[in-house]
Amino acid sequence: MTTVALLMAAGRGSRFGGERPKQYAALAGKAVLRRAACCYLTHPAIDRVATVIHPDDAGLYAAATDGLDLLPSIEGGDTRQESVRRGLEALADLNPDTILIHDAARPFVPAKVIDRVLNAIGPRTGAIAALPVHDSLRRADGGRIIDDVDRFGVWRAQTPQGFPFQDIREAHIAVAHEGHTDDASVARAAGMTVTVVEGAEELFKITTADDLLRAEALLRQRADRSRVGMGFDVHRFGSGDSVQLCGVAIPHGRGLAGHSDADVALHALTDAILGAVCAGDIGHHFPPTDPRWQGADSAIFLTEAARQVTDLDGHIGHVDLTIICERPKIGPHREAMRARIAEILQINVATVSVKATTTERLGLTGRGEGIAAQAVATVWLPAG
Ligand code: CTP
Ligand code: MG
Repeated sequence: MTTVALLMAAGRGSRFGGERPKQYAALAGKAVLRRAACCYLTHPAIDRVATVIHPDDAGLYAAATDGLDLLPSIEGGDTRQESVRRGLEALADLNPDTILIHDAARPFVPAKVIDRVLNAIGPRTGAIAALPVHDSLRRADGGRIIDDVDRFGVWRAQTPQGFPFQDIREAHIAVAHEGHTDDASVARAAGMTVTVVEGAEELFKITTADDLLRAEALLRQRADRSRVGMGFDVHRFGSGDSVQLCGVAIPHGRGLAGHSDADVALHALTDAILGAVCAGDIGHHFPPTDPRWQGADSAIFLTEAARQVTDLDGHIGHVDLTIICERPKIGPHREAMRARIAEILQINVATVSVKATTTERLGLTGRGEGIAAQAVATVWLPAG
């Protein structure tokens, strides 16, 4: 008895807006799609997970699923229905007994809902997660209510939607010429029975930018332990004509000396995050004696620190950096620095602070011997 989860991620997210499709949006340190995939990968009843993606998104997909054990990605089509059909056809050789079809834009999938859907699947019978409608329903035309709609027996369809694999594959092929918004509709059009099982509010789909804020709020609500970590670093000036600060190259009369790219700001920030989860320091994870880190992009170090947080199912709430130097001037680069840090940590740029100060020409930074940086990071961890 094999069960495969098929994640639908080939949409363009036009209502969400922005440059990258919503399933690749950063949600507190992990892409939306990655969160959905992990819910299935960690569920004991799911054997394999496959994803249907848009051909333009190969790079985004690789980054979002780095290190996850997924089947090869499948190319989607112009509509969700077409994407699902292609996904099912690509799995024909694997021929699982059961398939759970899931919108990758729904990042939170409770294990209990997966169980409920799986338990309700039978011969030529599918099951979908859904919630009953509690609000009164009205039909309006041009803003004027023209009818009351009976809500008795009305459900909001969610995903996962689960079916015997061959039945739903044949159904999708049979009704490919008709338009259906979900797989329950496809299954019924092909004569199958579909039942509803209780879904969950947290299974909501990210459709607009506000939904991402709702998802962040939900994670905040779940995390009930906050930790603060601090970091500090100094690099001396050496030869070169630019310094790397917060992942941004800034033209300067000198460079910074160091084993890696000497990004003193990212090093302080890496230590702050590691400190918040009591995971040692940057030298412990990336020894300066290791030739692999010669000239390395310090984004690698910061990415690893962020991974230590997500491994604990936590997320970074806020980071604050102070860069201490007389020169170069930080102000003109501040926004680029914040954006780069937010990108590396996969967090909202509104939670990234970069500041600068001088030491009034006193001390090592005042004498222009090098640059120092201090950082503080707040991390949220789930209970337990
Ligand atoms: N989907 C897909 N292939 C398509 C269209 C949608 O795989 N051609 C996927 C989406 O990636 C999403 C799920 O189906 O995970 C539900 O679709 P929807 O919420 O409508 O997402 P988008 O189509 O991306 O968004 P929009 O309609 O706002 O453009
Ligand atoms: Mg759509």
